[in-house]
Amino acid sequence: APAARPAPHRDEPLVVAHRGASGYAPENTLAAADAADALGTTWVETDVQRTADGELVLMHDTTLERTTNAEVLFPDRAPWRVADFTAAEMARLDAGSWFGEEFAGEPVPTLTDFADRLADNGQRLLLEIKSPASYPGIEADILDELRAAGWLGERHPGRRLVIQSFDAASVRRVHELAPRVETGFLGTPAVADVPEYAEFADQINPRYRDLTADYVADLQAVEGPHGEPVEVYAWTVNDGPTAVAVAELGVDGIITNFPDVVRDALEE
Ligand code: G3P
Ligand code: CA
Repeated sequence: APAARPAPHRDEPLVVAHRGASGYAPENTLAAADAADALGTTWVETDVQRTADGELVLMHDTTLERTTNAEVLFPDRAPWRVADFTAAEMARLDAGSWFGEEFAGEPVPTLTDFADRLADNGQRLLLEIKSPASYPGIEADILDELRAAGWLGERHPGRRLVIQSFDAASVRRVHELAPRVETGFLGTPAVADVPEYAEFADQINPRYRDLTADYVADLQAVEGPHGEPVEVYAWTVNDGPTAVAVAELGVDGIITNFPDVVRDALEE
């Protein structure tokens, strides 16, 4: 008999730690991945960009001043764009102190360091390509690096990687370069346009405030590039009552800074 396939839509949404468990540790750091792991959270979302000399690093903002000490270390480098710093300069930054002194010295991770840590922890990766239009060719760079780190393997039931972006052209590029890799489009396309997005996106991941149950069902009614229903992961849900309400809309996943809070609310 053929092996049983996982149900495409589960009763309880999958919980994803947003920028790591970023309610408890500085976002997009190894500490945030470990904090998610400590809470039993398998899936971790993070944001990737590229340095001036081509290193892939994790950072949400396109500038460094909110989450690092770049202004202190490099006072004459305003506006502290990720794209203007080298990997060696990036490695000197402290990406933890802003969040709490106990995280002082936490580095800005490279994509490979972060992926290796997730692999060590047995975690999975929802990788957002941030501002890809600023980084021509970043899709191929990401795929090369993840391939070298052993992340481009089989799909269901062993899925452990999804690559997403707000930039549809970038998502399409990932799909074209690596058709087996699962992908997500961040946004809220018109229902009539969903089949077009579903040519290259396995997930359509909207802001939770933009969702209705009908819209979620309309997205899930379309088949994605791998012949399975489009999945819907909602972001960013940070309290229990909202998580319950969003789950009731029928989403497949919830992206949250507080994975324990969301899971506890869903299990009640
Ligand atoms: O994963 C979705 C979410 O991360 C998108 O928003 O601004 O937190 O990257 P942002
Ligand atoms: Ca993100």
